[in-house]
Amino acid sequence: MADRVAWGRSERGEVTLLRRADGALELRVNGVFVMDTVHTETERMLASATLRAAVRAAAVRTDGVRVLIGGLGLGFTLREVLADPRVRAAHVVEIEPDLLDWHRSGLIPETAAAIQDHRVGFSVGDVAEVIGAQPPEGVDVLLLDVDNGPDFLVYEANSAIYRADFLTRCEKVLTPGGTLAIWSADTAPQLSAAMHAVFGNCEEITIPVALGRKQTTYHLFLSGK
Ligand SMILES: C[S@@+](CC[C@H](N)C(=O)[O-])C[C@H]1O[C@@H](n2cnc3c(N)ncnc32)[C@H](O)[C@@H]1O
Repeated sequence: MADRVAWGRSERGEVTLLRRADGALELRVNGVFVMDTVHTETERMLASATLRAAVRAAAVRTDGVRVLIGGLGLGFTLREVLADPRVRAAHVVEIEPDLLDWHRSGLIPETAAAIQDHRVGFSVGDVAEVIGAQPPEGVDVLLLDVDNGPDFLVYEANSAIYRADFLTRCEKVLTPGGTLAIWSADTAPQLSAAMHAVFGNCEEITIPVALGRKQTTYHLFLSGK
């Protein structure tokens, strides 16, 4: 059983925010589970592991790290990014305007403080288009979590995000020493190969996750420029 907290419709379909009987919030797109507020460790690691890698690569400038996040979701990656005092600016791109409105009106208290942080700016739109329009070498850390992974897309049009052309565009917007990281619910050998081809390196971080009684793994793919 779950209560509907908010519901919206866009040209891509329906987005729903539910409050489940266990107290957790759950986000669904077109009826398909996207995420909840219980298992957020890998969304948070997307931020913390990538910021660590960028620091190792000495991409962190004295005036702070600039982060671009594709996919706001329930805001846990953003919250973790902002927990790092080295972060100077975070630009979040979210395709569903209703979801941003729900955050702004306080419907997702778990991450409400992050939404109001003075370092954050939002764009409503497709992250592929926003990255396509960025000037070169303006982003230190690029975090993409817009699907359940390249083999389990939230929107079919996102398939291009995992291909070499778009990854090349990501490489161009990163500063030297910058890092791209992509979240996936499954291992993704084709994505790993494409990131390798574009960046010359790709580290896969495999994270064990317990979903109730079921044990599974989620995956982060990191490439450094
Ligand atoms: C899995 S959630 C992101 C979870 C987020 N990392 C967190 O910590 O809560 C995916 C989000 O990406 C958004 N999204 C999907 N495709 C997108 C695109 N092409 N551009 C921007 N946002 C997109 C969805 O609406 C959803 O809010």
